[in-house]
Amino acid sequence: MTRKDSSVEVIPTGAALGADVAGFDINNFSEEEFADIHQAWLDHLILRIRGQDIDDHAHREFAKRFGPLELSPKTKFTGKPWLPDFPEMSQITNKKVNGEPVGTLGNKDAYWHTDMSYIETPPKASLLHAFEVPPTGGDTHFLNMYEALDQLPKHLRAAIEGESIKHQQVYSSDGSVRRGMEKPESEDPRDWPGAVHPIIRTHPETKRQALFLGRRVKGYIMGMPLDESEALLDELWDFATGNPAWTWSQQWQVGDLIMWDNRCAMHARDGFDDNHIRLMHRTVLLGDKPF
Ligand code: SIN
Repeated sequence: MTRKDSSVEVIPTGAALGADVAGFDINNFSEEEFADIHQAWLDHLILRIRGQDIDDHAHREFAKRFGPLELSPKTKFTGKPWLPDFPEMSQITNKKVNGEPVGTLGNKDAYWHTDMSYIETPPKASLLHAFEVPPTGGDTHFLNMYEALDQLPKHLRAAIEGESIKHQQVYSSDGSVRRGMEKPESEDPRDWPGAVHPIIRTHPETKRQALFLGRRVKGYIMGMPLDESEALLDELWDFATGNPAWTWSQQWQVGDLIMWDNRCAMHARDGFDDNHIRLMHRTVLLGDKPF
C-alpha cells in the first residue's frame, strides 16, 4: 500500500513476481517513500526502476539504505576489485580491454542460481544497474521460490524437510571456475569447499518459507549417498525451474535498476552475441545465516 505522503507508484508485472516503481527519485526520497519501496520489494521480490541515469556513487548510496553491503565475489576471494573505487561492486560484462575481461559472466548463459549462496551468510539482495545492453539477448529471468516450495509435491516436501544442501564455491553460474578458486582434484562434491544451508529457509523479514537451492552443479544434500542426493536434486531442480508460471523475465534497457530478494528468488541470464557489449554494475547486500 502506498502512503498518502508518498508519491511512489508500484505497478506489479502481473506475473508471479516483479513490479515497476514510478514516481521515485533514488537521489532524493522521503522516509515514507523509502518505506513504500522496501515494502514493495518484500511483496514483489523484484523491483525495477527505469530511466536511472545515475553514477556508481548514487547506486551505492541507494543500496546502502537497505543495509550494509557485501564485497563483490572477486574482491572477497582475490582482494582485487573490478572497480577500485567501488570494491563492493561487481562489473558484469563481456567487455575486454587489451584482450582481458574487465568484468565477470561474459556473454554466455548464466544458469539458475542464488547469488553467493556458497558463503555462510549469502547476500539478502542484489541490485543491478544497466549502462550498456545488446540489441537482443541477455535477458534476466527471475523465479519465485516461495511458489516453488508452496507447490512442491508432498513426496518431495517430505524428502527435504529438515535437510541441508552444501553449496559449492568453485563454479560460477556461467560454468567457469570462479576467480581466486581452483577446481578440486576430486570430482566428489563432498570434498569441495562451500557453505551448508537448509533446503527450506525462512525469510527473516516476511517469515514465509522458500525453497533454497543455490546452484545445481556439484550441489550435495548432506548425509545422503551421492547417487540419492543427485537424484533428489535433479527432481527438485526440474520441478522448481520447470514452471514458467513462477517466473518473470526482464528485457533490459539502459538505465534500468533492478533489485531482487536473494532469499526467495533465483535468477538466470540468457547469453547474447559477443559482438555487442552488455555492461552492468551490481551491488549485493550483506545477508544472514539462512535458517
Ligand atoms: C547475476 O547473475 O548476478 C547477473 C545477472 C545478469 O547479468 O543479468
